[in-house]
Amino acid sequence: MKVLAFGASNNKNSINQQLAHYAAKQVPNAEITMLDIHQLEMPIFSDEREKELGQPEQAKQFFQAISEADLIVISFAEHNGSYTAAYKNVFDWTTRIDMKVFQGKPVIMLATSPGPGGAGSVLAAASGSAPYFAADVKASISLPSFYDNFDMETAQVTSEEFNRQLLDAIETL
Ligand SMILES: Cc1cc2nc3c(=O)[nH]c(=O)nc-3n(C[C@H](O)[C@H](O)[C@H](O)COP(=O)(O)O)c2cc1C
Repeated sequence: MKVLAFGASNNKNSINQQLAHYAAKQVPNAEITMLDIHQLEMPIFSDEREKELGQPEQAKQFFQAISEADLIVISFAEHNGSYTAAYKNVFDWTTRIDMKVFQGKPVIMLATSPGPGGAGSVLAAASGSAPYFAADVKASISLPSFYDNFDMETAQVTSEEFNRQLLDAIETL
């Protein structure tokens, strides 16, 4: 199974990138591709820039990466209760190629933050709007207090609750 995984974050040492990678590794026989959102940087979307630039190569790359995958694993970073500007910009440009960004693929949606909220607000927004973008959401799981629930040395989630929900979702695939 081809798994495309990424943290919806602009940080090179993103904790969400680490969580997405961990989750992807739990999928049996996974061929994992990790995507770096910070490598898909584009001008902030506007109608004028779209007229000028058309469909930027980075947005095409993002759409193509999704189309080549059998499963998408996204872990959302939360900035002020919502998406990071970096992810939202990639997403907005990509919706101009096709609103069905996720192309009917199964998607495991995750989110984490260092705090007890575990980026739950952005996760709720992402999973709530997912049907508009043709995502077949298999799970929506937040990991609160990342540094208490993730062993940095082994790169493993230690929360039994999280792991149970993740494995339940993987079993539905
Ligand atoms: C501008 C800004 C806003 C933030 N807002 C939130 C927030 O609303 N909720 C939250 O849980 N964490 C918030 N954080 C903390 C992030 O969760 C934390 O920086 C986390 O490491 C980001 O995830 P990443 O490492 O995957 O990029 C914020 C951080 C920044 C810099």
